[in-house]
Amino acid sequence: MSGNEKIMINTSNGRPPIITIRDLTKVYLMGQHEVRALDGVSLDIHQGEFLSIMGPSGSGKSTMMNMLGALDTPTSGEYLLDGEDVAHLHDDALAEIRNRKIGFVFQNFNLLSRTPAIQQVELPLVYAGRRRRDERAQQALELVGLGDRLHHKPSELSGGQQQRVAIARALVNEPAIILADEPTGNLDSQSGVEVMQIFQRLNRERGITVIFVTHDPWIARHTNRVVTLADGRIVRDETIAEPLIAGESKRPSDQLLR
Ligand SMILES: Nc1ncnc2c1ncn2[C@@H]1O[C@H](COP(=O)(O)OP(=O)(O)OP(=O)(O)O)[C@@H](O)[C@H]1O
Ligand SMILES: [Mg+2]
Repeated sequence: MSGNEKIMINTSNGRPPIITIRDLTKVYLMGQHEVRALDGVSLDIHQGEFLSIMGPSGSGKSTMMNMLGALDTPTSGEYLLDGEDVAHLHDDALAEIRNRKIGFVFQNFNLLSRTPAIQQVELPLVYAGRRRRDERAQQALELVGLGDRLHHKPSELSGGQQQRVAIARALVNEPAIILADEPTGNLDSQSGVEVMQIFQRLNRERGITVIFVTHDPWIARHTNRVVTLADGRIVRDETIAEPLIAGESKRPSDQLLR
């Protein structure tokens, strides 16, 4: 199999995709040696999809997230974000698009260690030059169930609460897309369920497109579509007809967390 064979799923109802990538490659040069972290990936993602990216370690998941998040530019190929060609933009323009359209959530939360929750969540509003920052940040924290933790610093919050601060920070600018790289990877299973509930709510109630990387097939079963990478290529692209609702069913005992 060439690696480019895959099932294209059309969930668009005629709308253009919010993300289109075509034959995307990313090659890292390590001395004389080339690493093809992405090797000709093509994918359409539509507004409102909840998609997970799976695959073994080193298969290119984080590289793909960096491309989708406009954190890095591809070696070759096309990337249209909401119709805009972002594969060839300069850093300033990339940063501007990122701030306007995309929210990020990372495995290790990426919070500032000495800063209270409300100020962490205000930061993207500062960069975007938006007003009523206090009020918006508070609303975002309330939305993730942290209305009573506004002035707590990360060291005064549990792991699950820290990740919820990170989610509030990701959504405060009202992005069309949230990208999350292993958002439940450092959480115990109960906190993981709470974080999944928030993502499912943001996806269902606000129509935010959620894309995340997970190693965990049980977590992936809570999303609508699972794209699997191997050696920088898409080897599977499947629709989950009836995604699980976070908190409603118990993880089977043969799928214990790592
Ligand atoms: N900055 C870099 N320079 C050189 N090689 C890199 C760089 N980043 C990633 N790679 C290589 O590209 C390949 C894909 O890496 P990537 O981080 O995307 O994998 P991953 O699927 O996210 O793995 P994991 O599940 O371990 O996080 C790997 O072989 C990795 O060694
Ligand atoms: Mg990774």
